[in-house]
Amino acid sequence: MKTIIEPFKIKSVEPINFNTREQRVKILEEACYNPFLIHSDDVLIDLLTDSGTSAMSSNQWAGIMKGDESYAGSPSFFRFKDAVQDITGMPDVIPAHQGRAAEKILFSILGGKGKYFISNTLFDTTRANIEFSGAEGIDLLCEEGKHPSIPAPFKGNLDIVALKKVIAEKGAENIPLCIITITNNSGGGQPVSMQNIREVKKVCAANNIPMFIDACRFAENAYFIKIREYGYSDKTPKEIAQEMFSYADGCTMSAKKDAFANIGGFLAMREPMLALKCRNLLVITEGFPTYGGLAGRDLEAIAIGLVEVLDENYLHYRIRSIEYLTNKLIAAGVPVMQPAGGHAVYLDAKEFLQHIPVDQYPGQALTGALYIEGGVRGVEIGSLMFGKYDEHKNLIPAQMELVRLAIPRRVYTQSHIDYVAEVIIEVFNNRSKIAGLEITEEAEMLRHFTAKLQPVKLTKPAFAIL
Ligand code: F0G
Repeated sequence: MKTIIEPFKIKSVEPINFNTREQRVKILEEACYNPFLIHSDDVLIDLLTDSGTSAMSSNQWAGIMKGDESYAGSPSFFRFKDAVQDITGMPDVIPAHQGRAAEKILFSILGGKGKYFISNTLFDTTRANIEFSGAEGIDLLCEEGKHPSIPAPFKGNLDIVALKKVIAEKGAENIPLCIITITNNSGGGQPVSMQNIREVKKVCAANNIPMFIDACRFAENAYFIKIREYGYSDKTPKEIAQEMFSYADGCTMSAKKDAFANIGGFLAMREPMLALKCRNLLVITEGFPTYGGLAGRDLEAIAIGLVEVLDENYLHYRIRSIEYLTNKLIAAGVPVMQPAGGHAVYLDAKEFLQHIPVDQYPGQALTGALYIEGGVRGVEIGSLMFGKYDEHKNLIPAQMELVRLAIPRRVYTQSHIDYVAEVIIEVFNNRSKIAGLEITEEAEMLRHFTAKLQPVKLTKPAFAIL
C-alpha cells in the first residue's frame, strides 16, 4: 500500500515561532500550568482543539468574497440553508454564531428544574448549558467506551439498557430530549454506529422523547460507519450522513469542526413550534433568523465546507492520519485510547502517570510536560474538566483521565505529526519526573478554561515538572 498523502496542496503558509525549552518552562509557569492561558504564538504545534482551527480551501475563500451581508434574506443564508437541508433533511435551519449558542437557545426553551437530558456523553458546553437552565444531564455511555485500552468499533454508543432504565426511573415526561453526540468527543472521539442511532430512536419514539444529534463531527462518524459497520461499505459518506440524520428530530452543530469554518453553528429541526420558539429567542440573543450572529461570508464558508467535508478522499486521509499517530504511540508502549478516534489522539493519563493520584490531576500535569518537551499544546479531558466536589470538598473524579491532542483539519503535515509522536515518546520515557498539580484558583463552571494551578510540593526532594 502506498503512503496516504494529504489530499491538498498548500497555497498560503503561516510561520511557526520556535522557542527553547527554558523559555517554555517559564511560559508555562506564567500561565499557571494551564495551556488555555498560554499565548498561541508561544506554541509550536497547537493541538488544543480542532474547533475553528481548520485551514479553509481556496473555494471557501472565494465564497467569503461572495458573501452577501444583507441584514435580512441574504442569498448566502439560502445557500447555507440548502447545504444543511441537503444533508439533514430538516425543514427548519437556524444559524448561530457557534455550537454553544445553538445549545443555549435549545436548552433555555426545553430545560429547567426537574428536567433530564440523556446522552451517550454530553460535551462540556452542552452539559453546562443544560445545568445552567437548572436541568440535569445524564451520560449513558456503553461499557466498552469506558475502557481506554480495549478496542471496539463503536465505543461512542449509548447504552440502550441503561436508557430504558433511566426513562422508567425519571419518567419520559421529564426528559425533553435525548442527545447523541457524534463522534463522542469527551469519550475519545469514538463513533456511534447506525444500529445504535436506530435503536436509540426506537426507544425514544416509544416514549415520545425527541432524539437530537450533536452533529459537530458527523462526517467523521459517517466515515467510521462506512469502514466498520456491516452493509455500509458501498455507500457514500453523504448517503450515510443522510441516513443518520433521517432518524433524528433535530440537531445542534458547531460548524467550527466538520464544516471547516473558523466560526459558526446551527440548530436544525423537524418540529415547527419548537423552531418558532428557537427563532424568537435567536432574535433576542444572536440576530435575525437569516444570519443568526454570523456574517454572510461565514454562511458561505460553512455551505461550501459542508460539501467538502464529505469528500471520501479527505475523510480517508483524515481518519488515517489520526490512526497513524495513534499506532506510532502504541508501538512505543504509550497508553492511548484505542482504537484511534476521528479527530484526536487521547492519551490515557492515569496509565501514563501512575504515580500521580487523580486529585493531583495527572492529565493536566501531562499537558504541561508535553508543552515543555516540545511546545505541543493539548488539553486535559479528565477531573479538571469534569470533576466535582462532594460536601467535604473532596474531589469526585471524572470517569477517565485523558489528554486530548486534537488535530486541526488540513493544517499539519506528516512531519509535524512525526514530531508530535517523538515529543510524546520522550515525555513517556521520562514520566517518573513529572509532578502532580494542585488548583490555586478556579471558576464555578467550566473551570478548566481559567483555572490556575501549581506543582504539588513533595515531602521528599521535589522533582520539577520537567
Ligand atoms: N458539542 C461538541 C461535541 C463539541 O465538541 C463542541 C465544541 C461543542 C458542542 C460546542 O461547540 O465550540 O462551537 O460552541 N468543542 C470544542 C472542542 C470546543 O475543543 O472540542 P462550539
